[in-house]
Amino acid sequence: MKKITVIALLLAAALGAQARNGSGKPAYKDAGRPVEERVSDLLSRMTLEEKVMQLNQYTLGRNDNANNVADPVDKIPSEIGSLIYFDTSPELRNRLQKKAIEQSRLGIPVLFGYDVIHGFRTTYPISLAQACSWNPALVKQAAEVAAQEARMSGVEWTFSPMIDVARDGRWGRVSEGYGEDPYANAVYGVAAVEGYQGDNLADSRRVAACLKHFVGYGASEAGRDYVYTEISRQTLWDTYMPPYQAGIEAGAATVMSCFNDISGTPGTANPYILTEVLKERWAHDGFVVSDWAAIEQLRSQGVAADRKEAAEKAFNAGVEMDMMNRCYDAHLAALVREGKVSQEKLDEAVRRVLRLKFRLGLFERPYTPESEETDRFLLPASLAVAERLAEESMVLLKNENNTLPLKAARRIAVIGPMAQNRLHLLGAWSAHGREEDAVSLFAGLENEYRGRAELLYARGCDFDGEDRSGFREAVAAAAAADVVVLCLGEKKQWSGENASRSTIALPEIQEQLAAELAQTGKPLVLVLSSGRPLELCRLEPLCGAMVQMWQPGIRGGNPLAGILSGRINPSGRLAMTFPRSTGQIPIYYNRRQSGRTHQGKYQDIPSTPLYEFGHGLSYTTFEYGDLRPSATTLRRGEKVTVEVSVTNTGGMDGAETVHWFISDPVCRISRPVRELKHFEKQPIRRGETRTFRFEIDPEKDLSFTDGDGNRFLEPGDYFILVKDKKVKLTLTD
Ligand code: BGC
Repeated sequence: MKKITVIALLLAAALGAQARNGSGKPAYKDAGRPVEERVSDLLSRMTLEEKVMQLNQYTLGRNDNANNVADPVDKIPSEIGSLIYFDTSPELRNRLQKKAIEQSRLGIPVLFGYDVIHGFRTTYPISLAQACSWNPALVKQAAEVAAQEARMSGVEWTFSPMIDVARDGRWGRVSEGYGEDPYANAVYGVAAVEGYQGDNLADSRRVAACLKHFVGYGASEAGRDYVYTEISRQTLWDTYMPPYQAGIEAGAATVMSCFNDISGTPGTANPYILTEVLKERWAHDGFVVSDWAAIEQLRSQGVAADRKEAAEKAFNAGVEMDMMNRCYDAHLAALVREGKVSQEKLDEAVRRVLRLKFRLGLFERPYTPESEETDRFLLPASLAVAERLAEESMVLLKNENNTLPLKAARRIAVIGPMAQNRLHLLGAWSAHGREEDAVSLFAGLENEYRGRAELLYARGCDFDGEDRSGFREAVAAAAAADVVVLCLGEKKQWSGENASRSTIALPEIQEQLAAELAQTGKPLVLVLSSGRPLELCRLEPLCGAMVQMWQPGIRGGNPLAGILSGRINPSGRLAMTFPRSTGQIPIYYNRRQSGRTHQGKYQDIPSTPLYEFGHGLSYTTFEYGDLRPSATTLRRGEKVTVEVSVTNTGGMDGAETVHWFISDPVCRISRPVRELKHFEKQPIRRGETRTFRFEIDPEKDLSFTDGDGNRFLEPGDYFILVKDKKVKLTLTD
């Protein structure tokens, strides 16, 4: 593969040189020529300094990320490679672009990037919530909406998706990924990449994706941010790598390296990960951008004495673009002159950046057409996607004695700090999402119950603090109502980057409010909005029903109200385990087997989680038939299909997600007790039976990886598991 690439590059270089000789127009400006030829031609014209500038990213506009403080760059050179664009106006961007095109010697367009994580202006649910929809097609649509809004506003590169498998809810960034399972992260990551990029990056509604943070950031010790991660090679490959491998195969244009120190070698300076695996084995032809200031932080991590050495280490490890470190612009040219960075490696890095600019069509269309915000943002179709995704993300955790839906209630007390709040529904990294665009839970309930029930409101208390002065009003509202809908949760800044918590319980004041309300004896429905799984062991016994609505974005209020009223049948299922208590963390379904399954339990609490991965209730019931394999023995190279029939036996139309797991009880390595390999969600009408299928390709679905990413498939017995059903498959040689 490497050889072919080298030959192609040489050929392209030769053709480029010819083209320069043969016509007046430089080859790189000729849209009719192949990208590699244009890149070679352009490279051959660039000075060392111009090359170095292509590898730097500064910012433009007001920085809206409080964690990333840096002096704004006053004078943006017209040769700059990339800018993080904090604005929504094509105009400011075009002004800067004009400078690059007209005032730089070669007129190389700037690449504008931004964190479009769960929407640009139309904010849809946080990624962790999206994962609970088990609907990757919808996740893809949401990414399409985000891409369109972003590109029309002057951003052609998003730092998304984040596909860091995360199993510690204390880590605030669990909200940004797709939960605890490698396969789920892979599937959703691919859906996001496809939604952002489509099949033509030059399309004026698409953006380049960036898989982040490569790799293992989710393993941050004790959920603290930016810290060391201890990851064995085995776990690196079977847990943290699969989503990245899938994202690269799906064509993700770029990758962001991670802050964390991976068992002794920081991600930013890790040649094994960034070069050997990503570029050589996986043949990624895009580029790696550092995380914000992560290159210079190699000093704090103790592997570089100064910024120059940090630049050398990061660059030689395989980081092509420096995000706001000001290390490459300051030192890379000198490092090349001193022979510490090779000219060839520099050219290769610049080639990768230019390649993307050509693929995005920036040389042909450097400017973003100016348009009205109303033509870009909050379009009816975009809002519909946001609402649908919020609906499918919400998880009914508990519903004792059919507390929900609230059909007969005439007076509903809506209580809690989250009830009328709109800001915190947006979640972390809400880009240009606005509070005033969001439908609050209360507003959603008002629309839902207009003319049918009276709503009483009391805030009760704040999100934290010790002020109980609102309790009395809240208790009075509860006493006067048929049922209490208590809306609790987290502020948006309690999760996301640099937002770890030592406990995943809600602040005491919120739990106290719930306890006071429970004293009234009125049925209590708990609605939870958070960016992480919560410790619910004290709240759960107080209420009849619980809905985890996550941070659902600007359209959360409507579907929440629909779920409470019974207009919508909830279909979300957890993509991350809810422990009983924070002390159980890390707790996740696909743990490895213990030698003493009958022992090793906690002495003070059960060892099981409160709500398992995949948990989620419905207003109807689904009955599963037995698993039906097309064969029970198979040879290598053969495939087997297993089917299961699911019947909606309850009183309401609904949707069911079937999670297909495998287990390999005896293997040369100890494998997880269960591993998710396939999932599918289907609507099933009342009384209807649907068939779900899993086509098993042993090489892909039954094999395992060693600590260097090599895959093995061993003959023997495997089990296919769906709920409490299982079937044995025997693989012979
Ligand atoms: C975060 C990245 C983000 C970058 C740019 C960093 O602090 O870790 O996820 O893409 O900032 O905003």
